[in-house]
Amino acid sequence: MVGGGGREHALAWACQRSRLVDRVTCAPGNAGTLRVGENLAVAATDAEGMVALAQSERVDLVILGPDAAVAAGVGDALGRAGIRCFGPDREAGRLESSKSFAKQLMQRLGVPTPAFAVFDDHAQAVEHLRRRGAPVVVKADGLALGKGAFVCKTGEEALAALDGLLLRRELGVAGERVLIEDCLAGEEASFFAICDGQSAVMLPPARDYKRAFDHDRGGNTGGMGSYAPAPPRGWRELNQRVRQEVVLPTLAEMRRLGSPYRGCLYVGAMLVGQEIQVLEFNARFGDPETEVQLPLLGDLVPLMWQSAEGQLDAPDPEPVAGACVGVVAAREPYPDPVEAGGQVLGIEAAEELGCLVFQMGTRPGGEGSVEVGGGRVLICTAIGEDQEDARRKAYSGLATISFSGMRYRQDIGA
Ligand code: GLY
Repeated sequence: MVGGGGREHALAWACQRSRLVDRVTCAPGNAGTLRVGENLAVAATDAEGMVALAQSERVDLVILGPDAAVAAGVGDALGRAGIRCFGPDREAGRLESSKSFAKQLMQRLGVPTPAFAVFDDHAQAVEHLRRRGAPVVVKADGLALGKGAFVCKTGEEALAALDGLLLRRELGVAGERVLIEDCLAGEEASFFAICDGQSAVMLPPARDYKRAFDHDRGGNTGGMGSYAPAPPRGWRELNQRVRQEVVLPTLAEMRRLGSPYRGCLYVGAMLVGQEIQVLEFNARFGDPETEVQLPLLGDLVPLMWQSAEGQLDAPDPEPVAGACVGVVAAREPYPDPVEAGGQVLGIEAAEELGCLVFQMGTRPGGEGSVEVGGGRVLICTAIGEDQEDARRKAYSGLATISFSGMRYRQDIGA
């Protein structure tokens, strides 16, 4: 398991439960993945280090967690060494690592997506903004750890985003090129297709909450909570449409370009009336969506294995419960930088209440303890008969957990 966040803890947990799996090794992992396997200190972006590790541990299947691993060519290096890998190579990963590549592909295929224009030049971008007016979404073309999209209600906000990206280079090379997109209103949902280059199996879709505070106020975060399935009603029909209208044409186009896409294709969408508008692709599972999808599903290892082999042959998996809700606990002043350190207490108590706690930013402390290691510390998830039941259980579990500076949203799944 490549990576070390909540998504990777959830995936490692799911693998460890599989009847096909003897042993799970995480690189680099976190204090949570230590509970389901072993951690080895290889960075998620160290392609050659990951090959050496897979060889020395005689790993049968490597799973790529973060986008940075895909963009660093970990999948390419494993492929060259003949090691089975779930996740795309770098070229196919351009569906995420270049927003302009992805949007131009959608445009060619007639996939509904907000109108957009691409700029390298600040003056031209500002001129376009003047003609177009707000609201708009300004996006960095490259990978920016979830911090590359600016929803701008006013022209001033959009100008500030353009200045930050194109003049001050606040996101480095990721923001050397920008997209200015129409801003849509609707219901967001994240769709997930396990792909083998040609066909696709759809997972129950999920929704995440990007803003720091209740009622979607505050700055953008890596995600403060999530629920699945989303939307709670009608998601199976939406999944069929996303497969037929978005995923399968995209897979065909990637084959035509000589970059077959294998792995999880994440379709970030806005539901606007009857329309599914695609906002973005990601070349990996979502975070914190994975943490609420996997508790609802049976063994996913056969699917990941078949995807890596290029031979997918399975129906869409059905959820084992009505819903799953997950609430993220962060340390103040996240999303601003936080200090690490200090113990996390009460995880076992939450688990005794039936919750699954996936660790996001943690590190092992002494004597089996868990310490805060980053801004988003953990996500407390629960399954239930329906969303309200799952939500109530997740919040009850979270009430048993504590660490200094702990804060969470109260409205997840409400
Ligand atoms: N949940 C957003 C992401 O994984 O990018």
